[in-house]
Amino acid sequence: MADYRSFEHDVLVIGAGGAGLRAAIEAASTGLSVGLVCKSLLGKAHTVMAEGGVAAALANVDDRDGWRVHFADTMRGGQYLNHPRMAELHAKEAPDRVRELEAWGALFDRTQDGRILQRNFGGHKYPRLAHVGDRTGLEMIRTLQDHGIHQGIDVHMECTVFRLLKDGDRVSGAFGYEREKGRFLVFKAKAIVLATGGIGRAFQITSNSWEYTGDGHSLAYHAGAELLDMEFVQFHPTGMVWPPSVRGILVTEGVRGEGGVLKNSEGRRFMFDDIPELYRNQTADNEDEGWRYTQGDRDARRPPELLTRDHVARCIVRELREGRGSPHGGVFLDIAWIKEHLSDSEAHIKRKLPSMYHQFKELAGIDITKEPMEVGPTTHYVMGGIRVDGNSQMSTVPGLYAAGECAAGLHGANRLGGNSLSDLLVFGKRAGEYAASFAREEGAVSIDEDQVEAAAKDALEPFEREGAGDDNAYHIQHDLQMMMQAKVGIVRNQGDMEEAVAGIAELRERAGRIAVHGNREYNPGWHTALDLGNLLTVSEAVARAGLQRTESRGAHFREDHPEKSEELAKFNHVLAKAPDGTMTVRREPLQPQTDEQKAIIEEMK
Ligand code: FUM
Repeated sequence: MADYRSFEHDVLVIGAGGAGLRAAIEAASTGLSVGLVCKSLLGKAHTVMAEGGVAAALANVDDRDGWRVHFADTMRGGQYLNHPRMAELHAKEAPDRVRELEAWGALFDRTQDGRILQRNFGGHKYPRLAHVGDRTGLEMIRTLQDHGIHQGIDVHMECTVFRLLKDGDRVSGAFGYEREKGRFLVFKAKAIVLATGGIGRAFQITSNSWEYTGDGHSLAYHAGAELLDMEFVQFHPTGMVWPPSVRGILVTEGVRGEGGVLKNSEGRRFMFDDIPELYRNQTADNEDEGWRYTQGDRDARRPPELLTRDHVARCIVRELREGRGSPHGGVFLDIAWIKEHLSDSEAHIKRKLPSMYHQFKELAGIDITKEPMEVGPTTHYVMGGIRVDGNSQMSTVPGLYAAGECAAGLHGANRLGGNSLSDLLVFGKRAGEYAASFAREEGAVSIDEDQVEAAAKDALEPFEREGAGDDNAYHIQHDLQMMMQAKVGIVRNQGDMEEAVAGIAELRERAGRIAVHGNREYNPGWHTALDLGNLLTVSEAVARAGLQRTESRGAHFREDHPEKSEELAKFNHVLAKAPDGTMTVRREPLQPQTDEQKAIIEEMK
């Protein structure tokens, strides 16, 4: 019999970034017992990598803003594959969630008359991002953590969940282990919220840290839930490219929101070269107009650097491919140029972008108030994820909810910057609320000891193997990351993605042969071997969904199908585990838009 410690909660939240914390706070506020599992230490979450702001139509800087415009921008940015109900709820509820955060102690930057200040970001028609310099995600996590600590939530730090447990069709708990001691844990819960974030570690260059191995996506998928639109992976246009040890670290879009411009090795602002039809009448065609827009001129059009992320990332790739890159394989991002317009530019940059100033000074020896940065695309976010109900966030498995990055629907084919922070507040709250109602209404569950035994056996299996030469989990993870970057990256084609699917199958075989040495205490080799299963599952989902989408839309760009397809514009991709264990992809018609939603989209076009 497996030896394990057991815990029982009404609601278990797995993942303690912004979405997990917000869900836990909401569930705990109903008086139920709530457990919060973090893979790392509490507070260490990818939420802090959303630096430039949280999108909410507060209309503090431009009174023409409102939920309708935010809704229309989000749908346009997602190329209309978004779940319209989620986009509507998000746009309507984000302002209240931000004000609530302020009431809980978040210290936002202010306008002259003391309201929450908002800045420009790509794809948002008006300045909409409430921010705290370039540390918005950090301030949000701090606030949620401080607030949550007083709600009586039981926090289980440095634990990885390895498998979900079920009672019939319904989720009943989770099996995991303590990363430090390697001891097993069983959590019994009437409802579970997954809030495990993204899949960035499936790629070589990423802003995600080691925790982001697609755990929630994979746990849900293997428990019978469906995944949606996994082909859509966001490559943020600006990550650091130099020195190599910091490659991929995020350079906030806030730099461009504050007037930073992208230039190639010829010193040209290449973003003026190719402005998509969809945005032509909103985008400046000269430097002066773009600058006036970032300074809040209501008549000016936004600079092309603030086009959507998918487009900006592709333009950078074009410059690199055509030999107009910077010395270390990026392009130049220049905020220092604002000294032409602002006499106190140095103080301004340090005040608005303090983390960027320190990041470049300390990691690259660059003073961004005087010289340009070198930047290139970095894997940042996955729009695809666990398929959820638009109101409640429940997955297709009863009692299993998902919120934040691991859930799908809101962002469609491409997410607008800042919409992740508002997403996790709006839908974290909703998931916590509905999970609590489910736990209250549906009552007790039981734990099936056979499932626990099977999970324990599978988790320990790598210790039992003989091994395969000097192959190990780190080598396999590295090979997967290189392959995903090269074959399922920013520019894709059928042949590459087919090779990736075959390559993933080979890597899975290799992963099944490697042995883990040592014992269960302090054994990162073992943890990597277990995380690898999740990475392989989500990588396969990205590649298989990408093969099905024979068009270019949002973050999914196919050089063999560079156009949008009218036919494919009508479908989402649903991925599920077949009874024989294989991964299936099917097309399903988009969630229908209401007449009001259609009218808003039409009007805003
Ligand atoms: O660039 C950024 O500050 C990232 C924001 C986001 O991903 O929402």
